[in-house]
Amino acid sequence: MIIKVQDLGKEFNGTTALDGISFRVKTGEVFGLLGPNGAGKTTTVKIMSTMLLPDDGIVEIGGYDVLRRPQKVRAMVDIITARDKFYRRLTAYQNMSFFSRLYGVESWKDKMEDYGERLGLEKKDYEKRLADYSTGMRQKLNLVRNLIRDTPILFLDEPTLGLDPVSSRKFRSLLKDIMDREEKTVIFTSHNMFEVEELCERIAILNKGRITSVGEPRELKKRIFPKRLVEFTLAKEDVLNLRDNAIDHIEKKGNKVRVYLEDGDRIHEVIEKIVNNVRVSDLSVKEPTLEEAFIRHTEEDERDQEEATSWM
Ligand SMILES: Nc1ncnc2c1ncn2[C@@H]1O[C@H](COP(=O)(O)OP(=O)(O)OP(=O)(O)O)[C@@H](O)[C@H]1O
Ligand SMILES: [Mg+2]
Repeated sequence: MIIKVQDLGKEFNGTTALDGISFRVKTGEVFGLLGPNGAGKTTTVKIMSTMLLPDDGIVEIGGYDVLRRPQKVRAMVDIITARDKFYRRLTAYQNMSFFSRLYGVESWKDKMEDYGERLGLEKKDYEKRLADYSTGMRQKLNLVRNLIRDTPILFLDEPTLGLDPVSSRKFRSLLKDIMDREEKTVIFTSHNMFEVEELCERIAILNKGRITSVGEPRELKKRIFPKRLVEFTLAKEDVLNLRDNAIDHIEKKGNKVRVYLEDGDRIHEVIEKIVNNVRVSDLSVKEPTLEEAFIRHTEEDERDQEEATSWM
């Protein structure tokens, strides 16, 4: 385990930001922290990169305690957030030359141009001062800076914020490429379900300073939102008379029908029953997206907590 977080707690002026979270990350794993605004994602990542001190609990990075050996931790980690560390008045080349000297990186220029090209930066951009960079360009250069430094652990705190869809896809594809080739451990925070599902091997869902679920994206979806949905259009004169204990409920609007399944494993039997009984067209099976799962789970979690506190 390269990252161990145990019962981590953090307060800001009496407000609880982290309420005792625990998780572990293996070397080379891409781990996602997924949660709505204010869930505690940035706070967690900042504590892991020694930018903030924890109030309670233990955080170990590569076997080093963040409180006792912060220098050791700092040498292993890098963090990319929506805010970058560049000097506005310097050009990209000058910035990167400065950082490379700071971190003792060799042949930085070749690496910079290689990684930059794959993200859609051009050589002429490197002559520009950072003050003249767009958000997206700055964010790309930020990733390039990290790739040049090449730490074993990388924290990405909503790195695609402010990128357009095309740049965001390029950014993810470069990340994926790097993660496939190198034994880099990555913690990725986001409220974009799609990118978390695409990039991460495991996800923790964080809500109001607590982890409500940890698991593989597929497994998590199944656990949190196991129902599947069969949609179809019914021939006008047909009447649907469907009974099966795998069915949770049926919605009908005109001749459009939605069958919600309680038990997704029996979907084929249900479909067979439908097509044997009535004439249908446009039949399709929908799988819940992580986004739906996430919203539902957060709502359920809030309801559970309200129910719990109403007894107190
Ligand atoms: N420096 C601070 N001072 C006071 N409160 C803070 C500070 N930093 C974070 N908080 C509070 O801690 C909680 C968690 O914030 P955090 O920034 O970790 O959430 P987040 O999951 O990163 O949210 P977002 O998706 O909006 O970035 C929030 O209630 C926030 O208001
Ligand atoms: Mg944040």
